Amino acid sequence: MVDLSVQLAPSHPDGLLLTNPVMSAAGTFGYGIEYSQVVDIQRLGAIVCKSTTLEARQGNPQPRLVETACGLLNSVGLQNIGVEAVVKDKAPVWAGWKVPVVVSIAGETSDEYARVAGRLEGVAGVSGVEVNISCPNVTSGGMEFGTDPKAAEKVTAAVKAASSLPVIVKLSPNVTDIVEIALAVAQAGADAITLINTVRGMAIDAGGGGPSLGNVVGGLSGPAIKPIALYMVYRVAGAVHVPIIGCGGIGCADDALEFIMAGASAVQVGTANLTHPQAALDVLDGIEQLTTGKGIRGLKDITGMARV
Ligand SMILES: Cc1cc2nc3c(=O)[nH]c(=O)nc-3n(C[C@H](O)[C@H](O)[C@H](O)COP(=O)(O)O)c2cc1C
Repeated sequence: MVDLSVQLAPSHPDGLLLTNPVMSAAGTFGYGIEYSQVVDIQRLGAIVCKSTTLEARQGNPQPRLVETACGLLNSVGLQNIGVEAVVKDKAPVWAGWKVPVVVSIAGETSDEYARVAGRLEGVAGVSGVEVNISCPNVTSGGMEFGTDPKAAEKVTAAVKAASSLPVIVKLSPNVTDIVEIALAVAQAGADAITLINTVRGMAIDAGGGGPSLGNVVGGLSGPAIKPIALYMVYRVAGAVHVPIIGCGGIGCADDALEFIMAGASAVQVGTANLTHPQAALDVLDGIEQLTTGKGIRGLKDITGMARV
């Protein structure tokens, strides 16, 4: 059996050791608890929960999901129960789990991000934070931090100062130069970087003559964005020295291996969970099968092997 374990935070004193590189992506796996009744979530490398803000949020007006030719447009708008409820109701369940849970955090100001991260300090069941500076579906905060290197650096530094947990920063593809943003967050101390969040887009209801989404604009995910995500992982892997988590259109083991060969240390499965709750575990099973008997000792042997 190939050793699929991966250290996602090698520069962090506690590290973030995963038994395998397959994670669930924020917002597509609830708090893990919902899926625990359907699939063996404990086999996953890690779970990233829905982005959590200081106060609970209602999110955007309906409709919030539109299916497109080869992807999904969503404008959920960070609907969530707020950090207090996460700490009180969700974390105690996670504390009994083998699979590490990373809490995705969001806010409207750097200070708010830092306060959410601070509230998670010392909470049993929380193994790390993923800083969502890439949500395209909110009017303030979210993506505006992920499209300006200075703002990205500032919010990363603020979360690092407020948290002793491993800090992953999740970037937006809606930028001119992804490397510039990645370098800024790595410089500010990010332990790992997730690439990518959704690609901004819209749909129009030709019959009704108006936008299909209540919020007009949304984020595209699923198979349509895989080449964009892969390219961004490839570029950033050549520029920063922190582990990269690839995300975007991953639905099978081949997809995941492409990201790893581009330089990702781990992968996140998102939209695929919505149609197929077993998707992330299928990806894991497939990686195990495809790497066994090929003389591969560990993931490191194939990480970045497609780089030229
Ligand atoms: C319905 C939905 C909700 C999402 N909510 C979040 C979220 O709360 N926080 C976040 O960082 N990303 C969120 N995302 C983005 C995903 O985590 C992921 O980055 C993106 O969908 C690309 O991966 P995929 O193509 O595998 O879905 C959401 C995506 C979808 C489809």
